[in-house]
Parts: sequence; C-alpha cells; structure tokens
Amino acid sequence: NTVISSGYGQLSQQPYSILSNHKPHNSFPPDFVFGAASSAFQVEGATKDGGRGPSIWDTFCEQSKDKVAGGATGEPGAGSYYRYKVLSNKSNLTEAYRFSISWSRVLPKGRGTPNRQGLQYYHKLIDELCSHDIEPFVTIFHWDVPQALEDEYGGFLSRKIVDDYVNYANLLFTEFGGKVKHWITMNEPLMFATLGYGTGMFAPGHCTPDLVYGGVGYSCPAGDSIREPYKVAHNILLAHAEAVSLYKNSFQAKDKGQIGITLVSQWFEPYDNQIATHEAQKRALEFNLGWFLDPLKFETTLSMRSLVRDRLPIFTEEESNKLKDSFDFIGLNYYTSAYVKDRPYNYTDEPTTCYDDPQIDITPLRGGVPIGPHERDSWVYVYPKGLKKLLLYIKEKYNNPSIYITENGVLEYNKDHHFMPEATQGANPIPSTPIDDIFRMEYHSSHLHELEDALSSRADVKGYFVWSLLDSFEWIFGYTCRFGLTYIDYTTNPDHPDLTRRPKQSARWLKRFLSNIKKHK
Ligand code: NOJ
Repeated sequence: NTVISSGYGQLSQQPYSILSNHKPHNSFPPDFVFGAASSAFQVEGATKDGGRGPSIWDTFCEQSKDKVAGGATGEPGAGSYYRYKVLSNKSNLTEAYRFSISWSRVLPKGRGTPNRQGLQYYHKLIDELCSHDIEPFVTIFHWDVPQALEDEYGGFLSRKIVDDYVNYANLLFTEFGGKVKHWITMNEPLMFATLGYGTGMFAPGHCTPDLVYGGVGYSCPAGDSIREPYKVAHNILLAHAEAVSLYKNSFQAKDKGQIGITLVSQWFEPYDNQIATHEAQKRALEFNLGWFLDPLKFETTLSMRSLVRDRLPIFTEEESNKLKDSFDFIGLNYYTSAYVKDRPYNYTDEPTTCYDDPQIDITPLRGGVPIGPHERDSWVYVYPKGLKKLLLYIKEKYNNPSIYITENGVLEYNKDHHFMPEATQGANPIPSTPIDDIFRMEYHSSHLHELEDALSSRADVKGYFVWSLLDSFEWIFGYTCRFGLTYIDYTTNPDHPDLTRRPKQSARWLKRFLSNIKKHK
C-alpha cells in the first residue's frame, strides 16, 4: 500500500485533485485484465509501406484537409509499424494490449490475395506481445474501410460489405486464431455511422449536401444524413453477426477464444425530475447503446422503430435470430456523461440529421467535474460515477453480459495550436512538462474506483483498457491532442520526427497500481 499511497499523495497536491478521494481499493478479481488500447490507423503510420492499400481515412485526410486539424494524416501515427518492439519493453504495458488490424494492410484491395508482408507485421507484433506475457485483444475493424471497397460499392452502405468483411475476418481467424484469444468485431459503430454519414466529420465524409445543423454548416460532396447512418449501422450488425457465427462454427472449439463487439455510450443524466425528462433519458440510452445492443440481445428498440420509422431497415427473422446473443462479451468504451432533456419536434417537419430522431437535447454535465472551464467541449467533463451507472444499467437491462471496458481515457491539448482555438485555447490541462499528466492519474483512479463499486454490485466486468497506450492521430483533431500513457515527441523535425517515447506520470502510476494489485490477487 505504501507504494500506491505515495502515488496518490502526489495527486492531492495538484489542481485537479477534486477526484482523488476516490481510490480503487484493490478488490479486482484474480482474472481481471488490465491493459491499454490503440487502433491501426491511429498508431501505425507507414501508410504506403509494406504493400498496404489505402483506406477511407487516407482518402479523407487527403481530400478533406479543412476537416482534420493541421491537415494531419496517418503519418507518422505513433510510428508503430516500425517500432512495435518498443511496446512491450519500455511502455509500462503490463497485461494486455488492444490494437486493431488494418484491413487494407492485409488485404490491400479489401479482398483477393492477402499481403504477406502485412500479415507478417501482425505476426511479429503478436509474437512480441506474447513473449512478454501481454495478451493481444484484436479489433478486426476500427473504421478504416479499404478504399477499393468504398469505390466499388460504397463500403458499409452496401450489403455487399458483409461477404467481404466475413472473408477478411476468416483470414484473421485462420492466421492468428492460434495466438489471439479475444476478438472484437467492430469498434464503436455508433461513431462510425453518425459522424461518417450524419455530419460527415469522419471518413467517408457523407452528409446531406449543405446541411445546417445546430447552427453549424456541414459540407459534404454527397450523402443523406437521415437515412445513411441507419443503413450503415444495419450492415455493420449483419457483418458482425456473420463473423461471429463463422468464428463459433469453425474456430472457437479449436482455438478456445472469445468474440465480442465494442460499443460506446455516454451515461445520460436526467436534467430535472420531470417525467418527460426521464423519458428522454431512456431514449438517449436507447439511441446510443440500444441501437446496437438491443438487436444483439432482443429485437430492435421500440422507441427507435417508432421515431425513425421506415428509415430504419428491418432485420428478417433469420437475421434477427443470428444477431441474438452473437457475442461472448461486450466491449464498452466510456469517456464522459451528459445531461439530457426532452426536445419534441414537429412531426410534419423532416428531421435534419439522425441526431434529431431521439428528440432529445444533450448538454454538458455541470454536475461533473470539468477539467477545463469551457463547456462547449464535452470531452473535458469527467464523471466517473457515469461509468458505474452505465454498467449497472447494462447489467439490469441486458441480463448481466460479460463486459470489458475496452476504452476509458482523457486528453490534453497541445499548447500551440488547436482545432477550436477560441473555445479551448489555454483552457485545458496542458501539463507543465509533457509527461506531467496528474489529471490523467486522477481520471483513471476515480474511474477504477467506480468500476470496483460496480463489481461489488455484481456487474460482470472482466477487464479495463486505458485509451490510449500512446499519443497518436486523434481523427479530426489530428495531432493537436494527446490521449497516451506514453508521450510521443513529434517536434524534432516535422518531416522526420524521431518519435521518441517517454512514459508519462500516469504510466508510472498505472504500473505501481497494478503491481500492488498483483500482490493482492
Ligand atoms: C474512441 C475511438 O475508438 C478511438 O479511436 C478514439 O481515439 C478515442 N475514442 C478518443 O476519442
């Protein structure tokens, strides 16, 4: 305990110490897994090396420079294609690493002849991890659709993606199934569908032409913000179910692994005590989590069916049966919470985007602890109790599924430039030195505390992954903010950054924390 408490001792002297009363008390079950996470496009770099084909994120970064801060691209990522070894030696990673495989690195055209060099890279990475007793958790799809499939039939807008996805998953199960015991079919389909096809802020950048939503104009070459997100989500679920059925029928008995899907949701807190507000809270959870989790457990959520009506594709009975219970575990990404209110709209008006459909208003959680004073940026609100509330909601509603927290984390911005300068410049926890991330230690300790509480209420949580192992490409924020336990130095020379890695304080804290837990196990 002394080691741990000296870690906490430092916390209380820092400005963000308001959360530090919440200390995890080391009651994690012996087989509980701790790890850190990343994704291929965000960390690998080497986008044109080793025979990799382009993905929709390469194209988006090239063609929508105005949407990605600083015109950033997947280069250099965190340099992980060449520096995969550094992972286990100096990274303070201890038990598990969740990473994703780049579809277009192993199948440059999305299907056809596999790229041996690409497969080799993942073999080397997995072998390296295993040799250090670090368990690989592999995400099969983390948003980077091969551009060839996007060009051919519109990627996830088309049902044709199901066969190609299953063929790709089959390749991975065949190659790596002997070594990989935890598979995640999809990462955050909610974000992929709504940001990729509702506002066009993510690849492939679709939205209704000249969309104005919430006073903000969005420009996309093409799209349909009230239909496409639902089609995409539908095809993602179908592809997931087919891949799981393949795994269960042909691999699971032999490989003895588990397969699941990673979903994301905030916790939604009712803004006041009115009945309409509580109804709005219910809809918020249904449209974020239930959109995906309901068909995986029961049927499509009723509120979605009645509000989205004929824009929501229908699963046939056979599909629906295949979807039901098509997971061994649910991966849950949790970052923050929000207040929710009712916002009825006039039924004679067409909604503008899929965000109108739940008829709710979401506002930053003032009861949460802001780690920066600006309310416009919901990411800076920290509400650890939301994690426990979400876990208990899932336990009650979905019959206590096994859950891995596949992401939980917090960011800091770079001092020099930011995507929304007027809102956030200087407002966020910019560490006094790049590795001095006390607020991150607090963030994780307080969330782990709530997680332990959920465990003692018998939520079936099996593991916890920090987002992220390394600073990396943060989608539209490019390299202007950092989520890593490990600091990456991009400044040396912008054309040839040396990508020096230095563990932040949070990484050292996590290591101490885990070694203490091991003593208790
Ligand atoms: C969710 C995504 O899965 C990941 O790619 C992203 O970097 C983090 N959240 C932080 O935004």
